[in-house]
Amino acid sequence: MVAIDGPAGAGKSTVARAVAERLGFVLVDTGSLYRAVALCALRRGVDLGDREAVEAVAVEAVGDGSLRLAADGSGATRVLVDGEDPGEALRTPELSLGASTVSAYPGVRAALLDAQRAFGRDGAVVLEGRDIGTVVFPDAEVKVYLTASAEVRAQRRYDELRARGVAVELAATLEEVLARDARDMNRAIAPLREAPDAHRVDASHLAPEAVIDAIVRLVRPPG
Ligand code: DC
Repeated sequence: MVAIDGPAGAGKSTVARAVAERLGFVLVDTGSLYRAVALCALRRGVDLGDREAVEAVAVEAVGDGSLRLAADGSGATRVLVDGEDPGEALRTPELSLGASTVSAYPGVRAALLDAQRAFGRDGAVVLEGRDIGTVVFPDAEVKVYLTASAEVRAQRRYDELRARGVAVELAATLEEVLARDARDMNRAIAPLREAPDAHRVDASHLAPEAVIDAIVRLVRPPG
């Protein structure tokens, strides 16, 4: 089992996807679960600031299967909301912020814990998130804390959104990155922390290929 944690925009998704492909492991993007809870709540007319109401949505949606993880047959997993893959609708800045808000709610985290553990149990899996190595799978064999400077992360997020045709400003993207960092690192429950036994990789000045190679070598040491 490979746990890849780190702040927003460090390149976790790209790296985790490539590592899973190279190893032939299943990939679980746990951030999409938090995004899906925010989407579910908004669809049901719930204010994301209303903790109890959002927690109730999470418990109900996980319980009745309207929010679930499904293998997509190609080695990745998809989160399904009301039976469908929301695709790019999960990736908007609004849902990035919404996911950050709902991920601070203990009831939401508890509701998603079992779903994540169920997928990781059989091993041969790469999970990427914020608390995989610290909370979800503290016994993961390989833990990576992937980080990069806030400026580098903002630039990447900006390029990514622009490439997708989303109109954003770099300064606003940097602010969003810093706001999410503060929120993700300072929340009372499962804050973003580096596990003591994690391998820290600073990707500020590394090409994705170098990061991917380094992680694959941790799992399968050469020779
Ligand atoms: O990785 P991402 O941007 O899709 O994550 C969206 C939000 O979900 C982010 O603000 C932090 C939160 N999250 C979390 O609290 N725990 C995880 N394991 C994954 C994501």
